[in-house]
Amino acid sequence: MEKPRILTELKSQTRPQHDSVEGNPFGKAMMDGTMSIEQYKEFLQKFYGFHLPLEQALSAFEWSRLGIAFDERRKITLLEQDLRALGMTDVEIALLPSAEDLPPMNSLEAAVGVMYVMEGSTLGGQIQARQVQKMFGFTAENGAAYFSSYGANVGVMWKGFCEAIVSAANDNEANESVIISSAKETFAALERWLMHEVGVVEV
Ligand code: HEM
Repeated sequence: MEKPRILTELKSQTRPQHDSVEGNPFGKAMMDGTMSIEQYKEFLQKFYGFHLPLEQALSAFEWSRLGIAFDERRKITLLEQDLRALGMTDVEIALLPSAEDLPPMNSLEAAVGVMYVMEGSTLGGQIQARQVQKMFGFTAENGAAYFSSYGANVGVMWKGFCEAIVSAANDNEANESVIISSAKETFAALERWLMHEVGVVEV
């Protein structure tokens, strides 16, 4: 069966932004194996500060309308686990800065666009988990829980979320355009946040 239009459009329209996140200093160091533990810790702290406010905002939506059990998709606990494995105390974790410049979420469709970016990152997470294991010897149980999100179920979880995207789009162009622009805003906000205070690239 042909792939639903919303899924091909989401992927193609956010591809340049995806590649830009993948190619930023964190993604690059991760992929070429030159990342230091300190940089890995900072990368996880960045994801923590981005996921925390987004997860809180996203949890207010009625995901069950789209067949999604939101709690199964939370990632903050995994990030906390990794940061603890890297030596941070709960107090230090609670004091980490969190992003304020977030994508707008005025509707369930907009929330779907945000969630698309967070869920899609679990696909690249598989590759990153392998890199982290190679570089530092960390596993899903110790230091690499976030990048190992969903373990062997990544494919099933992604397929489930894609079905929810199709259902939210409901073959309606107005819905599709909200989902796509929200995904783009999320990638843009993430990139700004990742570069914030790093001072390497002006975004
Ligand atoms: C080093 C970093 C990364 C690598 C190597 C990577 C790699 C990948 C790969 C291999 C896929 C699957 C592509 C396919 O199915 O053809 C993918 C999909 C995706 N990744 Fe990444 N990724 C990285 C970082 C991220 C980050 C940080 C995010 C967002 C937070 C992200 C969001 C997505 C999304 C939304 C998709 C789904 C694309 C689609 O099929 O619609 N990725 N990534």
